[in-house]
Amino acid sequence: MKKLIAGNWKMNGTVASVRTLMEGIAGAMEDDLSVLDKCDFLLCPAYLHLPLVQQMKKILGVSVFLGGQDCAVTDDGAYTGDVSAAMLCDLGCEYVILGHSERRHYHDESDDIVCQKAALAHNKGLQTIICVGETESDRDAGKAEDVVAAQLSRSLPDTVNADNTVIAYEPVWAIGTGKTATPDDVAAMHKFIRKKLQEKLADFNRIRILYGGSMKPENAAELLATPNVDGGLIGGASLKAEQFVAIGQAA
Ligand code: PGA
Repeated sequence: MKKLIAGNWKMNGTVASVRTLMEGIAGAMEDDLSVLDKCDFLLCPAYLHLPLVQQMKKILGVSVFLGGQDCAVTDDGAYTGDVSAAMLCDLGCEYVILGHSERRHYHDESDDIVCQKAALAHNKGLQTIICVGETESDRDAGKAEDVVAAQLSRSLPDTVNADNTVIAYEPVWAIGTGKTATPDDVAAMHKFIRKKLQEKLADFNRIRILYGGSMKPENAAELLATPNVDGGLIGGASLKAEQFVAIGQAA
């Protein structure tokens, strides 16, 4: 399976910095075109920067997919401040991240909301990256697998299949902290997630399961070589062109 290296830029960037980042990514990829044989790359900028990234992609000829960081729980209509799945498609997005722990935490997004958003996104033809992961206290209490199993069973709509869904396992305590789960813990959780997918889906073996949480060039080779790790969801390191592409080279 080709690895997916997904950059989640979160609420970062200006018009100028996005231009620089795109030029950097294009340059780093040109220096090593073989990286595109090994990995698919995806960029998820803030909504406002999607048209700019799309434009830069075309101008620079960068081979990356485009995605949103979230979408609304409803179709287009009177929902001030929201952005619909249809709007993401219209801007050329192929993917949308859903249920990121920052959305779950700061916006009280429940599994049920994630599930509704995913069904809507599938309906519009988007591939969803559905995020799951335990907090530090869940892990300390020995409940990591229970929490992830509950999130998986409640966040995945019936529309899920290997062509429209990617799972991202992101232990909350590893996001933006510099701490990463050990390769053994990652291997165990990804195996567990695969087993849970098997209970639900015929094509469970083709679903990509990404690891996210302080992935960087220094730890990427080991994490990406772990069984059932089919790519990475990268925050901080995706804002630095060389580091982002180097993670792909480590795959
Ligand atoms: P990080 O973020 O790489 O900065 O830890 C990952 C994520 O939140 O997707």
